[in-house]
Amino acid sequence: MKLCVIGTGYVGLVSGACFAETGNDVVCVDIDAAKIERLRAGEIPIFEPGLAEMVSRNVAEKRLAFSSEVAAVIAVSEVVFVAVGTPPRSDGAADLQAVDKVADAVAANVTREIVLVMKSTVPVGTNARVRRIVKDAAHPIHVVSNPEFLKEGNALDDFMRPDRIIVGCDADDAFARDVMTRLYHPVTLSSDRFIFMDPSSAELTKYVANTMLAMRISFMNEVATLCEKVGADVHLVRKGVGSDERIGHKFLHAGPGYGGSCFPKDVVALVHTGHEHGVELELASATDRVNLRHKGTLARKLKQVHFEGDLRGKRIAIWGLAFKPRTDDVRESPALQLIEALLSEGAEVRAHDPEAMAGVRALYGDRITLVEDAYEAAEGADALVLVTEWRQYQNPDFARLRSLMKRPLLVDGRNIWSGYGLRKQGFTYDGIGVRGS
Ligand SMILES: NC(=O)c1ccc[n+]([C@@H]2O[C@H](COP(=O)([O-])OP(=O)(O)OC[C@H]3O[C@@H](n4cnc5c(N)ncnc54)[C@H](O)[C@@H]3O)[C@@H](O)[C@H]2O)c1
Repeated sequence: MKLCVIGTGYVGLVSGACFAETGNDVVCVDIDAAKIERLRAGEIPIFEPGLAEMVSRNVAEKRLAFSSEVAAVIAVSEVVFVAVGTPPRSDGAADLQAVDKVADAVAANVTREIVLVMKSTVPVGTNARVRRIVKDAAHPIHVVSNPEFLKEGNALDDFMRPDRIIVGCDADDAFARDVMTRLYHPVTLSSDRFIFMDPSSAELTKYVANTMLAMRISFMNEVATLCEKVGADVHLVRKGVGSDERIGHKFLHAGPGYGGSCFPKDVVALVHTGHEHGVELELASATDRVNLRHKGTLARKLKQVHFEGDLRGKRIAIWGLAFKPRTDDVRESPALQLIEALLSEGAEVRAHDPEAMAGVRALYGDRITLVEDAYEAAEGADALVLVTEWRQYQNPDFARLRSLMKRPLLVDGRNIWSGYGLRKQGFTYDGIGVRGS
């Protein structure tokens, strides 16, 4: 099939590459002309494992191309995917300006009956809103809601082996169902992953899934805080609780608070949707409040527990800047909140991340020092804070760290070192809700 993906970010580029990989002719479109130029020159603007290889293979085989000519690309497409950003407005609602713009462009340039697929995360009612925008187009446009569930860092595998493919369309829309079924057929060969539903349910499913996951994280972060007060260990509590099959082990890890471009904004947008309809989603509101507060934990620990309320002139090393491993995405990363707090307290920050330093450099310039070697970050440091659990940080040379640091203080924001006997090696160890060893 001939399809285009409008919005070539984390979701759009991965979706476009994967649809090309499964035999379609795909054009990825973006209003960011510089990004399209980079892609045309063979440069991949984001880090996602396996993506560069998949993109270059499909470009070479002429199934994947890049363009900033939205109108021309729409005119030759049978299916148009929308993967533009839907960032939060100041009131927490999702900003749909980009979605509206794309819908206008589709209505103005369509040359045949097409399916218009909303892959961006959009609030309930957006499918209906887009239908209103395109209703007077010259050709029929079937508007389908197909929220994306890929996880950065594992995006290709998630796309190629999805847990489910949610398709929100009218029950009697055989045209749209047929197109969606054919498009996703290659990734559903081993088992039927489709869940067809009405568009509103599809739109809401995405927000509820993200909020449910965020809620588990916030709850366990609160439990971790309680563990510290009562002398319990959140690791053990997690193991005990997660072994209940009704609960399961995933998303129960205490940490520095959730970040990324999805959970924070989607939780708040769901609360906003509730307000619009007179429903107070109290658990979702609390999830966000707890997270905002908890994201200050690492800075609070440093200042209050370890430096007697004064961080001035202290050199703090940070390992990990991305909001999670295997991505370069720093949007809403807990590392940013930590950096802000440290700088405002007069501390000096030296940081390392295997992939995400460019994003942080763009934000902080020379206000912090970014180094290419993780150990270099620890040189002369008064503390080392682990924020993102990249594999390369999981079993470091602690003796070397000890010799490099001015003061042997490890603050482990992901609890990955708690079993290493660090106190015996002369470190002061502090985790999130763990006793360490
Ligand atoms: N990143 C994720 O892990 C993830 C996962 C699932 C769903 N989502 C959702 O998918 C959507 C996209 O997220 P993302 O992380 O890929 O965003 P992103 O910011 O990485 O990419 C969005 C792209 O859209 C482009 N764009 C904006 N307006 C445009 C327009 N009018 N025409 C053409 N291009 C335009 C931007 O230039 C940008 O390149 C959001 O709604 C997000 O909530 C994201």
